[in-house]
Amino acid sequence: MNKGIVKLAPSILSADFAHLGKQVGEAEQAGADRIHVDVMDGHFVPNISMGPLVVQSLRPVTRLPLETHLMISDPDLYLEEFAEAGSDSLLVHWEGNNNLHRTVQRVKALGKRVGVVINPASPALVLEEILQDVDQVLVMTVNPGFGHQHFIHTTLPKIRRVRQMIDEIRPGCDLEVDGGIDATTAPLVVDAGANVLVAGSAVFGAGEGVIAAMNRLRAAANESK
Ligand code: DX5
Ligand code: ZN
Repeated sequence: MNKGIVKLAPSILSADFAHLGKQVGEAEQAGADRIHVDVMDGHFVPNISMGPLVVQSLRPVTRLPLETHLMISDPDLYLEEFAEAGSDSLLVHWEGNNNLHRTVQRVKALGKRVGVVINPASPALVLEEILQDVDQVLVMTVNPGFGHQHFIHTTLPKIRRVRQMIDEIRPGCDLEVDGGIDATTAPLVVDAGANVLVAGSAVFGAGEGVIAAMNRLRAAANESK
C-alpha cells in the first residue's frame, strides 16, 4: 500500500478543445499536480490526437508540469521537438522499442524527466533493468488509444508488483496509472501502490465541472489511506 500523497494528472484528451486553456486553468486551480498530454499517431495506437503544437500552446497558460505520453512509433524522432515545445517529462512505451535504454538516455540528455509505460499485457518484469534509469513508471490500466474505456482489473496485481520493484530498486520513482480511473477505481489503484493518477473523462467529462470532479477524485483516492 502506498502511504504518500496521491498526485493527480488530468488528461486533456477528454477536455473541450475549444476551451483548452480555460479547462487546464480550472484543473490547476483544483490542485492538479501535472497535465497529461496524450500523443497518438494512428499507427502505434488506432487513434490520432495531438502533437507538439498543443504543448507549445499550453506552455504559457499554466505553471503546471506538462507530461507527454508518447503513443507513437519511433518516439526518438520527436523527443527534441516535444522538449522544445515545453514538455517537462516524456513518457515512452516499452512496447515496440528495441532500444529503450537509448531512448531513455536521450530524454535525460534533453534535461527532461523520463518515464517508461507498459501496456496491460506487458509484465512488470520488463521494467527490472530500466527502472534504475527512470523517474516514473506508467502502468496502463486500459489498452492505450482512447479515453472513456473501462478499467482493466487484472492490472491490479501488476501495480502491486511494480510498487515492490520500485521500493527495492528505485525508491522515489513515481508509479502512475492511466485509463479508467475514477472515484470507484482510484482507491483500488492507490491501495495497490500507485501514487500518480491520470484521469481524463473523470475530470473533463463530468457534468459537475472540472473543480468538483477533481475534488471528488482526490477524496476517493485518499479513501484507502
Ligand atoms: C488512453 C490515454 C489516457 C486517457 C485516459 O490511451 O493514455 O491518458 O486520456 O482517459 P480516461 O481517464 O477517460 O480513461
Ligand atoms: Zn495517457
